[in-house]
Amino acid sequence: MSDWLGLQGKVYIVTGGSSGIGKAIVDELLAAGAQVINADIHSSVQLHPRLHFIETDVSSKTAVEHLIATTLKKAGTIDGIVNNAGINLPRLLADQKHPHGRYELTEEIFDQLLAINLKSVYLLSQAAARIFYQTGTGVVINISSEAGLEGSEGQSIYAATKAAINSFTRSWAKELGKFNIRVVGVAPGIMEETGLRTLEYEEALAYTRGITVDALRKNYSKVSTIPLGRSGRLEEVANVVSFLLSDRASYISGVTMNVAGGKTRG
Ligand SMILES: NC(=O)c1ccc[n+]([C@@H]2O[C@H](COP(=O)([O-])OP(=O)(O)OC[C@H]3O[C@@H](n4cnc5c(N)ncnc54)[C@H](O)[C@@H]3O)[C@@H](O)[C@H]2O)c1
Repeated sequence: MSDWLGLQGKVYIVTGGSSGIGKAIVDELLAAGAQVINADIHSSVQLHPRLHFIETDVSSKTAVEHLIATTLKKAGTIDGIVNNAGINLPRLLADQKHPHGRYELTEEIFDQLLAINLKSVYLLSQAAARIFYQTGTGVVINISSEAGLEGSEGQSIYAATKAAINSFTRSWAKELGKFNIRVVGVAPGIMEETGLRTLEYEEALAYTRGITVDALRKNYSKVSTIPLGRSGRLEEVANVVSFLLSDRASYISGVTMNVAGGKTRG
């Protein structure tokens, strides 16, 4: 196996590694010879001698502290983290047709999105930074979304959490750079199907856009807005993440990279 990235023997925590983009990142890192800790609320059937699953609700401080302690016990150190776990529940700010209806934003949804998509990133990054101070090196990768750069109809809270993550990336790169810690964001665009695309998600998004679920599904394959003419493969995000974790990316920090086939408008 070529070790151009030099990830053999390194230890990485990937949140939300049981499905979709997170699982693709776990697979790439394992293929590159790293030890991987998958911190997910849902278990995975995946078995590999260098893969450990630690059941974690990333929005819970206690669970994140347990994750760090268990990782150190199992692997001895942490070289980097990938803040990938996230959810998306489309809602309208105010539903003009059905005020207070099912697809109008509520405090509960607001709090849930902020806890899982944003607070989690703060909790794990803080805990990891404390380890990185001791080891003198470390990388934080924040999985954002193109929606965080452009906004998205029916997905304002989701987009807001991702925009806030982009801001974390810029600020933390400034705070942590002097300790040889890099912080980089990755913003996927339109990707092939993952666990995010549930029927509940599709029904909600279709409603907020005033179209049927069938019409929404037809739009997935309408790729005229993507210069490369297709949706992205999950490993295309995972490849970028592996590179950014590696010392090959040693001078990259404080930026969020679009992995969106050239698409720059929402
Ligand atoms: N799929 C896309 O098109 C796309 C585009 C841009 C950005 N993203 C981002 O990529 C990331 C991964 O999304 P995906 O599409 O692979 O979704 P997914 O649903 O396939 O995977 C998300 C994983 O996060 C886990 N998770 C959810 N809540 C959790 C919690 N509280 N604690 C720990 N784990 C939890 C889930 O169990 C799941 O395994 C998300 O941050 C998402 O916003 C996805």
